[in-house]
Amino acid sequence: MSRSILITGASSGIGRQLALEFAARGYRLALAARRVDSLVALKQEILAAQPQAQVELRALDVQQTGSVAAVIEELATTLGGLDIVVANAGIGDSGGNIGSGGFARDAAIIQTNVLGAMATIDAAVALFRRQQQGQIVAISSVAAARGLPGAGSYSASKAAIAVYADSARNELHGTAIRVTTLYPGFIDTAINQRLRSRPFVIPVEKGGRIIADLIERRVQQAAVPGWPWSLVMPLMKLLPATLVAKQNPLK
Ligand SMILES: NC(=O)c1ccc[n+]([C@@H]2O[C@H](COP(=O)([O-])OP(=O)(O)OC[C@H]3O[C@@H](n4cnc5c(N)ncnc54)[C@H](OP(=O)(O)O)[C@@H]3O)[C@@H](O)[C@H]2O)c1
Repeated sequence: MSRSILITGASSGIGRQLALEFAARGYRLALAARRVDSLVALKQEILAAQPQAQVELRALDVQQTGSVAAVIEELATTLGGLDIVVANAGIGDSGGNIGSGGFARDAAIIQTNVLGAMATIDAAVALFRRQQQGQIVAISSVAAARGLPGAGSYSASKAAIAVYADSARNELHGTAIRVTTLYPGFIDTAINQRLRSRPFVIPVEKGGRIIADLIERRVQQAAVPGWPWSLVMPLMKLLPATLVAKQNPLK
C-alpha cells in the first residue's frame, strides 16, 4: 500500500504545497486546517491531477489542543494508519515589540505554534508507538536561532517547538519512530508577504520540493533551503546585539 501523510495547516502556503507535492509522489493524504473551503478546493486540484489519489479532509483548529488527538486518530483510522505527521500549522503576526500592548496576539502565537504543535506531536507519538513506526516532522524556523526584534513571540515559539521535538527524538531513540525538525528561512507565503525585507526568499513550489525531499530522506534536522541558511543560522547566534537590533522591522 502507498505511504500516508497527515499535514496540519494544509489550507495554504507550505502545507498546501506539501499536499500537492506528496500527492504527486503517490502518498495518501490527510489534510487539516480551519478553512475547510480551501481544503476542499485543494482536494479538487489534487484529484484533477491524480484522479486515483486518496485525500481525507478534517476541520482542525490546533489552538483547541483538546481536539487534536481525536482528529489525528480518526484520520489514521480512515487511512489505515499514518506514516508521517507534519506539525505545520502556524501563525506569524506577533503583537509587535514587547511591552507595546500586543500581548494577546503573542499569546495566540504560543497557543498555535507551541501548544498546537505539541498537541499534534504528542498525538502522533502515541499513534506511532502503537504502530511501532512513523515519522514526525516539526516545522520550526530560522527565527528560532535568535530572539528577533519585533518577533519575540514567534522566535520563542519556534525555539520552543524545536526543543520539544528534540526531546521527542531523544525519547524515541532506538525505536523505528523518526523525528525531523526543519528550519525554513523565507518561503514566499502569506505569513511573510507583508514584511519589508525577506532575505534569500524562495518560491513556495521550491520550498515544498526541498521540504518533501528532506522528509523522504528522514533527516534529523535541516535548514530550508540548506544554502545559505545552514551557514547563516549559526552566524545569527553570534551576531552582536547592535547588528541584530537594526533588523527590527517595527522601528
Ligand atoms: N513561509 C516561511 O517563510 C516560513 C518560514 C519558517 C517557518 N514557517 C512555518 O511554516 C508553517 C506554515 O506557514 P506558511 O508559511 O505556510 O504560512 P501560511 O500560508 O499562513 O499557512 C499557515 C497554515 O497554518 C494554518 N493554521 C494557522 N492557525 C491554525 C490553527 N489554529 N489551527 C489549524 N491550522 C492553523 C493555516 O490554516 P487555517 O487558517 O485554514 O487554519 C494555514 O494553512 C508555520 O508553522 C510557519 O511558522 C514558514
